[in-house]
Amino acid sequence: MEYNPFSLDIHIDPYPTYRYLRDEAPLYHNPEIGFWALSRFQDVWDATLDWERFSSSAGPALEIEVSVPMMIAMDPPEHNRNRGIISKAFTPRAIEKLEPQIRKIICGYLDALIERDSFDAVEDFSAKFPMDVISSMLGIPEQDRDQIRQWSNIALTRKPGEKEPPPEAIEAGANNWMYFQQYIDERRKNPGDDMISTIVHATATDDDGKERGLSDEEILGFIALLAAAGNETLTKFFGNGIYHLSRYPEARAEIAANPAVIPNAVEEILRYDPSSQYQGRIAMCDIEMYGQTIPKGDRVILITGAACRDEREYPNPDELDIHRDIKRQLAFGFGYHLCLGASLARLEGRIALEEFFKRFPDYTVDEDNLGYVHSSNVRGFTSVPITPQR
Ligand code: HEM
Repeated sequence: MEYNPFSLDIHIDPYPTYRYLRDEAPLYHNPEIGFWALSRFQDVWDATLDWERFSSSAGPALEIEVSVPMMIAMDPPEHNRNRGIISKAFTPRAIEKLEPQIRKIICGYLDALIERDSFDAVEDFSAKFPMDVISSMLGIPEQDRDQIRQWSNIALTRKPGEKEPPPEAIEAGANNWMYFQQYIDERRKNPGDDMISTIVHATATDDDGKERGLSDEEILGFIALLAAAGNETLTKFFGNGIYHLSRYPEARAEIAANPAVIPNAVEEILRYDPSSQYQGRIAMCDIEMYGQTIPKGDRVILITGAACRDEREYPNPDELDIHRDIKRQLAFGFGYHLCLGASLARLEGRIALEEFFKRFPDYTVDEDNLGYVHSSNVRGFTSVPITPQR
Protein backbone atom coordinates (compact mmCIF):
# COMPACT_ATOMS: atom_id res chain seq x y z
CA MET A 1 0.00 0.00 0.00
CA GLU A 2 1.33 3.47 -0.89
CA TYR A 3 1.35 6.31 1.64
CA ASN A 4 1.46 9.68 -0.11
CA PRO A 5 0.93 12.59 2.30
CA PHE A 6 0.11 14.84 -0.67
CA SER A 7 -2.81 12.76 -1.95
CA LEU A 8 -6.43 13.80 -1.64
CA ASP A 9 -7.44 10.44 -0.13
CA ILE A 10 -4.99 10.95 2.72
CA HIS A 11 -6.30 14.47 3.32
CA ILE A 12 -9.82 13.08 3.62
CA ASP A 13 -9.02 10.02 5.77
CA PRO A 14 -5.44 8.90 6.49
CA TYR A 15 -6.32 6.49 9.31
CA PRO A 16 -6.77 3.19 7.40
CA THR A 17 -3.39 3.81 5.72
CA TYR A 18 -1.83 4.62 9.09
CA ARG A 19 -3.11 1.32 10.48
CA TYR A 20 -1.45 -0.48 7.58
CA LEU A 21 1.82 1.38 8.21
CA ARG A 22 1.85 0.58 11.95
CA ASP A 23 1.01 -3.08 11.42
CA GLU A 24 2.75 -3.96 8.16
CA ALA A 25 5.40 -1.32 7.49
CA PRO A 26 6.50 0.25 10.80
CA LEU A 27 9.51 1.63 8.95
CA TYR A 28 7.97 2.72 5.66
CA HIS A 29 9.95 3.93 2.64
CA ASN A 30 8.56 6.01 -0.21
CA PRO A 31 11.43 6.29 -2.71
CA GLU A 32 9.35 8.26 -5.28
CA ILE A 33 8.66 11.18 -2.96
CA GLY A 34 11.85 10.53 -1.02
CA PHE A 35 11.13 9.84 2.63
CA TRP A 36 10.99 7.23 5.35
CA ALA A 37 8.21 7.15 7.97
CA LEU A 38 7.76 5.96 11.54
CA SER A 39 4.19 5.48 12.72
CA ARG A 40 4.15 3.41 15.94
CA PHE A 41 3.68 5.41 19.15
CA GLN A 42 6.86 4.28 20.89
CA ASP A 43 9.05 4.75 17.80
CA VAL A 44 7.77 8.28 17.24
CA TRP A 45 8.07 9.15 20.95
CA ASP A 46 11.66 7.89 21.12
CA ALA A 47 12.71 9.62 17.90
CA THR A 48 11.56 13.04 19.19
CA LEU A 49 14.17 12.66 21.95
CA ASP A 50 16.92 11.38 19.68
CA TRP A 51 17.97 14.59 17.91
CA GLU A 52 21.49 13.32 17.34
CA ARG A 53 20.13 10.72 14.90
CA PHE A 54 16.82 12.36 13.91
CA SER A 55 17.72 16.01 13.28
CA SER A 56 15.16 18.78 12.73
CA SER A 57 17.55 20.82 10.57
CA ALA A 58 15.72 20.11 7.29
CA GLY A 59 12.50 21.67 8.59
CA PRO A 60 9.09 20.46 9.68
CA ALA A 61 7.43 19.47 6.38
CA LEU A 62 8.56 17.59 3.28
CA GLU A 63 7.65 20.37 0.89
CA ILE A 64 8.73 23.42 2.89
CA GLU A 65 12.23 24.78 2.40
CA VAL A 66 13.13 26.71 5.53
CA SER A 67 14.48 30.00 4.21
CA VAL A 68 14.93 31.88 7.50
CA PRO A 69 16.35 30.62 10.81
CA MET A 70 13.57 29.02 12.90
CA MET A 71 13.88 27.03 16.11
CA ILE A 72 11.63 24.31 14.68
CA ALA A 73 14.41 23.62 12.15
CA MET A 74 17.31 23.70 14.63
CA ASP A 75 19.01 21.15 16.90
CA PRO A 76 20.57 21.66 20.33
CA PRO A 77 22.46 23.70 21.47
CA GLU A 78 21.37 26.38 18.94
CA HIS A 79 17.75 25.29 19.40
CA ASN A 80 17.78 25.75 23.19
CA ARG A 81 19.30 29.22 22.89
CA ASN A 82 16.64 30.27 20.41
CA ARG A 83 13.74 28.75 22.27
CA GLY A 84 14.96 30.48 25.44
CA ILE A 85 14.46 33.91 23.84
CA ILE A 86 10.66 33.63 23.81
CA SER A 87 9.90 30.66 26.05
CA LYS A 88 9.03 32.88 29.06
CA ALA A 89 6.06 34.30 27.15
CA PHE A 90 4.63 30.77 26.77
CA THR A 91 4.90 29.28 30.27
CA PRO A 92 1.56 28.02 31.69
CA ARG A 93 1.67 30.92 34.21
CA ALA A 94 2.21 33.60 31.57
CA ILE A 95 -0.49 32.07 29.38
CA GLU A 96 -3.03 31.91 32.22
CA LYS A 97 -2.93 35.70 32.41
CA LEU A 98 -4.17 35.94 28.84
CA GLU A 99 -7.47 34.19 29.62
CA PRO A 100 -9.70 37.33 29.87
CA GLN A 101 -8.26 38.78 26.66
CA ILE A 102 -8.68 35.47 24.78
CA ARG A 103 -12.24 35.01 26.05
CA LYS A 104 -13.13 38.51 24.86
CA ILE A 105 -11.79 37.82 21.34
CA ILE A 106 -13.63 34.47 21.15
CA CYS A 107 -16.94 35.82 22.52
CA GLY A 108 -16.80 38.71 20.06
CA TYR A 109 -16.82 36.33 17.09
CA LEU A 110 -19.41 33.95 18.57
CA ASP A 111 -21.84 36.70 19.60
CA ALA A 112 -21.88 37.91 16.00
CA LEU A 113 -23.18 34.44 14.95
CA ILE A 114 -26.01 34.02 17.45
CA GLU A 115 -28.78 35.32 15.18
CA ARG A 116 -27.65 33.31 12.14
CA ASP A 117 -29.70 30.26 11.03
CA SER A 118 -26.52 28.58 9.84
CA PHE A 119 -22.84 29.45 9.62
CA ASP A 120 -19.43 27.93 9.01
CA ALA A 121 -17.71 26.83 12.23
CA VAL A 122 -14.32 27.22 10.54
CA GLU A 123 -14.63 30.14 8.10
CA ASP A 124 -16.81 32.27 10.40
CA PHE A 125 -15.14 31.40 13.69
CA SER A 126 -12.11 29.18 14.13
CA ALA A 127 -10.21 30.63 11.15
CA LYS A 128 -10.37 33.99 12.89
CA PHE A 129 -9.67 33.90 16.59
CA PRO A 130 -6.24 32.12 16.76
CA MET A 131 -4.57 34.72 14.57
CA ASP A 132 -6.11 37.51 16.64
CA VAL A 133 -4.68 35.96 19.79
CA ILE A 134 -1.16 35.52 18.41
CA SER A 135 -1.35 38.94 16.71
CA SER A 136 -2.29 40.65 19.95
CA MET A 137 0.63 38.88 21.68
CA LEU A 138 2.95 40.04 18.89
CA GLY A 139 1.48 43.56 18.96
CA ILE A 140 0.08 43.62 15.40
CA PRO A 141 -2.53 46.38 15.02
CA GLU A 142 -6.14 45.16 14.82
CA GLN A 143 -6.82 46.64 11.39
CA ASP A 144 -4.01 44.56 9.78
CA ARG A 145 -4.96 41.16 11.26
CA ASP A 146 -7.45 39.97 8.63
CA GLN A 147 -4.92 40.54 5.89
CA ILE A 148 -2.09 38.76 7.74
CA ARG A 149 -4.36 35.81 8.45
CA GLN A 150 -5.37 35.50 4.81
CA TRP A 151 -1.78 35.62 3.60
CA SER A 152 -0.71 33.03 6.19
CA ASN A 153 -3.47 30.62 5.17
CA ILE A 154 -2.85 31.01 1.44
CA ALA A 155 0.92 30.58 1.95
CA LEU A 156 0.38 27.11 3.48
CA THR A 157 -2.10 25.83 0.87
CA ARG A 158 -1.09 23.23 -1.73
CA LYS A 159 -3.02 21.89 -4.72
CA PRO A 160 -4.15 18.26 -4.18
CA GLY A 161 -1.40 15.87 -5.27
CA GLU A 162 1.19 18.66 -5.75
CA LYS A 163 4.27 19.13 -3.63
CA GLU A 164 5.37 22.57 -4.84
CA PRO A 165 3.57 25.67 -3.56
CA PRO A 166 1.32 27.33 -6.19
CA PRO A 167 2.23 30.91 -7.29
CA GLU A 168 -0.47 32.45 -5.08
CA ALA A 169 1.06 30.72 -2.01
CA ILE A 170 4.50 32.12 -2.89
CA GLU A 171 3.07 35.60 -3.40
CA ALA A 172 1.14 35.50 -0.11
CA GLY A 173 4.31 34.44 1.74
CA ALA A 174 6.24 37.34 0.19
CA ASN A 175 3.53 39.82 1.17
CA ASN A 176 3.65 38.63 4.76
CA TRP A 177 7.43 39.04 4.74
CA MET A 178 7.26 42.62 3.51
CA TYR A 179 4.64 43.54 6.07
CA PHE A 180 6.67 42.17 8.96
CA GLN A 181 9.92 43.71 7.71
CA GLN A 182 8.31 47.14 7.94
CA TYR A 183 6.85 46.29 11.33
CA ILE A 184 10.24 45.23 12.73
CA ASP A 185 11.77 48.53 11.58
CA GLU A 186 8.97 50.38 13.34
CA ARG A 187 9.41 48.43 16.60
CA ARG A 188 13.19 48.98 16.60
CA LYS A 189 12.48 52.72 16.65
CA ASN A 190 9.41 52.63 18.93
CA PRO A 191 9.43 49.59 21.24
CA GLY A 192 6.11 48.65 22.88
CA ASP A 193 4.90 46.14 25.46
CA ASP A 194 4.61 43.25 23.00
CA MET A 195 6.49 40.15 21.89
CA ILE A 196 7.93 41.65 18.69
CA SER A 197 9.55 44.41 20.76
CA THR A 198 10.97 41.75 23.11
CA ILE A 199 12.38 39.73 20.20
CA VAL A 200 13.74 42.83 18.43
CA HIS A 201 15.65 43.80 21.57
CA ALA A 202 16.71 40.26 22.64
CA THR A 203 20.30 39.03 22.40
CA ALA A 204 21.61 35.67 21.22
CA THR A 205 24.80 33.93 22.35
CA ASP A 206 26.99 32.63 19.55
CA ASP A 207 28.95 29.35 19.71
CA ASP A 208 32.02 31.33 20.88
CA GLY A 209 30.02 32.72 23.83
CA LYS A 210 29.63 36.27 22.42
CA GLU A 211 26.34 38.11 22.96
CA ARG A 212 24.81 39.90 19.99
CA GLY A 213 21.48 41.34 18.86
CA LEU A 214 19.26 39.35 16.51
CA SER A 215 19.38 39.96 12.77
CA ASP A 216 16.21 40.91 10.85
CA GLU A 217 16.25 37.41 9.36
CA GLU A 218 16.25 35.79 12.78
CA ILE A 219 13.42 38.05 13.97
CA LEU A 220 11.41 37.26 10.85
CA GLY A 221 11.99 33.59 11.57
CA PHE A 222 10.40 33.92 15.01
CA ILE A 223 7.42 35.83 13.71
CA ALA A 224 6.83 33.54 10.75
CA LEU A 225 7.00 30.46 12.98
CA LEU A 226 4.64 31.83 15.62
CA ALA A 227 2.17 33.10 13.02
CA ALA A 228 2.15 29.79 11.13
CA ALA A 229 2.29 27.44 14.15
CA GLY A 230 -0.28 29.33 16.23
CA ASN A 231 -2.86 29.85 13.52
CA GLU A 232 -3.64 26.90 11.25
CA THR A 233 -3.26 24.20 13.90
CA LEU A 234 -5.82 25.74 16.25
CA THR A 235 -8.22 26.62 13.45
CA LYS A 236 -8.17 23.00 12.36
CA PHE A 237 -8.34 21.63 15.91
CA PHE A 238 -11.66 23.40 16.44
CA GLY A 239 -13.17 22.37 13.08
CA ASN A 240 -12.13 18.76 13.73
CA GLY A 241 -13.68 18.88 17.20
CA ILE A 242 -17.03 20.34 16.06
CA TYR A 243 -17.26 17.79 13.24
CA HIS A 244 -16.32 14.73 15.31
CA LEU A 245 -18.55 15.74 18.23
CA SER A 246 -21.50 15.81 15.81
CA ARG A 247 -20.80 12.09 15.26
CA TYR A 248 -20.71 11.49 19.02
CA PRO A 249 -23.95 13.16 20.23
CA GLU A 250 -23.70 11.78 23.76
CA ALA A 251 -20.25 13.28 24.26
CA ARG A 252 -21.48 16.53 22.75
CA ALA A 253 -24.48 16.68 25.10
CA GLU A 254 -22.21 16.02 28.06
CA ILE A 255 -19.85 18.83 27.05
CA ALA A 256 -22.78 21.23 26.67
CA ALA A 257 -24.22 20.23 30.08
CA ASN A 258 -20.96 20.04 31.99
CA PRO A 259 -18.07 22.27 30.83
CA ALA A 260 -15.81 20.68 33.47
CA VAL A 261 -15.22 17.80 31.03
CA ILE A 262 -13.89 20.15 28.34
CA PRO A 263 -10.15 20.11 29.24
CA ASN A 264 -10.07 16.32 28.85
CA ALA A 265 -12.21 16.54 25.71
CA VAL A 266 -9.61 18.94 24.23
CA GLU A 267 -6.88 16.32 24.84
CA GLU A 268 -8.98 13.60 23.26
CA ILE A 269 -9.91 15.64 20.17
CA LEU A 270 -6.21 16.41 19.75
CA ARG A 271 -5.34 12.72 20.04
CA TYR A 272 -8.20 11.49 17.86
CA ASP A 273 -7.51 13.79 14.93
CA PRO A 274 -4.44 15.99 15.45
CA SER A 275 -4.18 19.03 13.23
CA SER A 276 -0.42 18.51 12.86
CA GLN A 277 0.02 15.05 11.33
CA TYR A 278 3.75 14.50 11.05
CA GLN A 279 7.03 16.05 12.17
CA GLY A 280 9.92 16.27 9.69
CA ARG A 281 13.40 15.01 10.52
CA ILE A 282 16.58 14.01 8.66
CA ALA A 283 18.79 10.99 9.37
CA MET A 284 22.18 12.13 10.73
CA CYS A 285 23.77 8.69 10.30
CA ASP A 286 22.74 5.32 8.88
CA ILE A 287 19.85 4.20 11.11
CA GLU A 288 18.98 0.50 11.42
CA MET A 289 15.36 -0.31 12.22
CA TYR A 290 13.06 -3.23 11.48
CA GLY A 291 15.72 -4.95 9.34
CA GLN A 292 16.24 -1.95 7.04
CA THR A 293 18.69 0.96 6.96
CA ILE A 294 17.71 4.60 6.63
CA PRO A 295 20.77 6.05 4.87
CA LYS A 296 22.41 9.14 6.37
CA GLY A 297 20.91 12.31 4.87
CA ASP A 298 17.49 10.82 3.99
CA ARG A 299 14.28 12.55 5.08
CA VAL A 300 12.28 10.83 7.82
CA ILE A 301 8.82 11.78 8.98
CA LEU A 302 7.48 10.99 12.44
CA ILE A 303 3.76 10.47 11.88
CA THR A 304 2.33 11.71 15.16
CA GLY A 305 -1.17 11.40 13.61
CA ALA A 306 -0.62 7.64 13.21
CA ALA A 307 1.00 7.28 16.64
CA CYS A 308 -2.07 8.92 18.24
CA ARG A 309 -4.19 6.02 16.91
CA ASP A 310 -1.83 3.25 17.94
CA GLU A 311 -3.64 0.57 19.96
CA ARG A 312 -0.25 -0.34 21.45
CA GLU A 313 -0.69 2.90 23.46
CA TYR A 314 -4.43 3.60 23.50
CA PRO A 315 -7.22 1.03 23.89
CA ASN A 316 -9.92 1.41 21.19
CA PRO A 317 -7.96 4.16 19.47
CA ASP A 318 -10.55 4.72 16.72
CA GLU A 319 -13.21 5.72 19.27
CA LEU A 320 -13.52 9.31 20.46
CA ASP A 321 -13.81 9.00 24.25
CA ILE A 322 -13.83 12.35 26.03
CA HIS A 323 -13.08 10.58 29.34
CA ARG A 324 -10.03 8.75 28.04
CA ASP A 325 -7.10 8.81 30.43
CA ILE A 326 -4.32 10.02 28.13
CA LYS A 327 -1.04 9.32 29.87
CA ARG A 328 1.21 10.31 27.00
CA GLN A 329 0.11 12.90 24.41
CA LEU A 330 1.84 13.15 21.02
CA ALA A 331 -0.44 15.65 19.26
CA PHE A 332 1.94 18.45 20.34
CA GLY A 333 5.01 16.37 19.51
CA PHE A 334 7.41 15.51 22.33
CA GLY A 335 11.05 15.89 23.27
CA TYR A 336 13.11 18.89 22.23
CA HIS A 337 10.53 20.43 19.93
CA LEU A 338 7.47 19.81 22.12
CA CYS A 339 5.03 22.48 20.99
CA LEU A 340 6.01 25.77 22.62
CA GLY A 341 2.41 26.94 22.29
CA ALA A 342 0.84 23.87 23.94
CA SER A 343 -0.45 25.75 27.02
CA LEU A 344 -1.79 28.53 24.83
CA ALA A 345 -3.44 26.02 22.48
CA ARG A 346 -5.03 24.15 25.39
CA LEU A 347 -6.36 27.40 26.84
CA GLU A 348 -7.72 28.67 23.51
CA GLY A 349 -9.19 25.25 22.74
CA ARG A 350 -10.93 25.08 26.11
CA ILE A 351 -12.36 28.62 25.95
CA ALA A 352 -13.49 28.17 22.32
CA LEU A 353 -15.42 24.98 23.20
CA GLU A 354 -16.85 26.47 26.44
CA GLU A 355 -18.17 29.59 24.72
CA PHE A 356 -19.33 27.79 21.58
CA PHE A 357 -21.37 25.20 23.52
CA LYS A 358 -22.88 27.90 25.77
CA ARG A 359 -24.43 29.39 22.65
CA PHE A 360 -24.86 26.37 20.37
CA PRO A 361 -25.36 23.20 22.46
CA ASP A 362 -26.84 21.28 19.52
CA TYR A 363 -26.26 21.57 15.76
CA THR A 364 -26.26 19.58 12.54
CA VAL A 365 -23.32 19.48 10.12
CA ASP A 366 -23.87 19.80 6.37
CA GLU A 367 -21.65 16.83 5.50
CA ASP A 368 -21.98 17.37 1.72
CA ASN A 369 -20.26 20.72 1.95
CA LEU A 370 -17.27 20.00 4.16
CA GLY A 371 -14.02 21.45 2.77
CA TYR A 372 -10.64 19.77 3.37
CA VAL A 373 -7.22 21.39 3.78
CA HIS A 374 -4.68 20.30 1.19
CA SER A 375 -1.40 20.25 3.03
CA SER A 376 0.96 17.36 3.63
CA ASN A 377 0.97 17.78 7.40
CA VAL A 378 -1.77 20.18 8.54
CA ARG A 379 -4.97 18.16 8.72
CA GLY A 380 -8.52 19.41 9.03
CA PHE A 381 -11.36 21.29 7.40
CA THR A 382 -11.41 24.59 5.59
CA SER A 383 -15.17 24.50 5.97
CA VAL A 384 -17.62 22.92 8.46
CA PRO A 385 -21.09 24.36 7.68
CA ILE A 386 -23.45 23.94 10.62
CA THR A 387 -27.08 24.68 11.50
CA PRO A 388 -27.70 25.29 15.21
CA GLN A 389 -30.79 23.48 16.56
CA ARG A 390 -32.85 25.86 18.67
C1 HEM B 1 -3.85 22.62 18.43
C2 HEM B 1 -2.86 23.43 18.25
C3 HEM B 1 -1.43 23.03 18.03
C4 HEM B 1 -0.89 21.83 17.65
C5 HEM B 1 -1.62 20.53 17.33
C6 HEM B 1 0.56 22.01 17.59
C7 HEM B 1 1.47 21.02 17.28
C8 HEM B 1 2.84 21.16 17.32
C9 HEM B 1 3.78 20.09 17.12
C10 HEM B 1 3.41 18.63 16.81
C11 HEM B 1 5.04 20.60 17.26
C12 HEM B 1 6.36 19.82 17.20
C13 HEM B 1 7.15 20.00 15.94
C14 HEM B 1 8.34 19.07 15.82
O1 HEM B 1 8.50 18.13 16.59
O2 HEM B 1 9.11 19.26 14.88
C15 HEM B 1 4.89 22.02 17.53
C16 HEM B 1 5.94 22.90 17.70
C17 HEM B 1 5.76 24.25 17.89
N1 HEM B 1 4.58 24.92 18.10
FE1 HEM B 1 2.72 24.10 18.13
N2 HEM B 1 0.85 23.32 17.92
C18 HEM B 1 -0.32 23.97 18.21
C19 HEM B 1 -0.46 25.29 18.58
C20 HEM B 1 0.56 26.19 18.72
C21 HEM B 1 0.41 27.56 19.14
C22 HEM B 1 -0.90 28.23 19.55
C23 HEM B 1 1.65 28.11 19.12
C24 HEM B 1 2.06 29.51 19.50
C25 HEM B 1 1.89 30.53 18.89
C26 HEM B 1 2.59 27.10 18.69
C27 HEM B 1 3.94 27.27 18.54
C28 HEM B 1 4.84 26.25 18.29
C29 HEM B 1 6.28 26.48 18.17
C30 HEM B 1 7.00 27.80 18.32
C31 HEM B 1 6.86 25.21 17.92
C32 HEM B 1 8.34 24.89 17.73
C33 HEM B 1 8.95 24.46 19.03
C34 HEM B 1 10.39 24.06 18.89
O3 HEM B 1 10.88 23.87 17.78
O4 HEM B 1 11.05 23.96 19.94
N3 HEM B 1 1.89 25.93 18.46
N4 HEM B 1 3.54 22.34 17.58
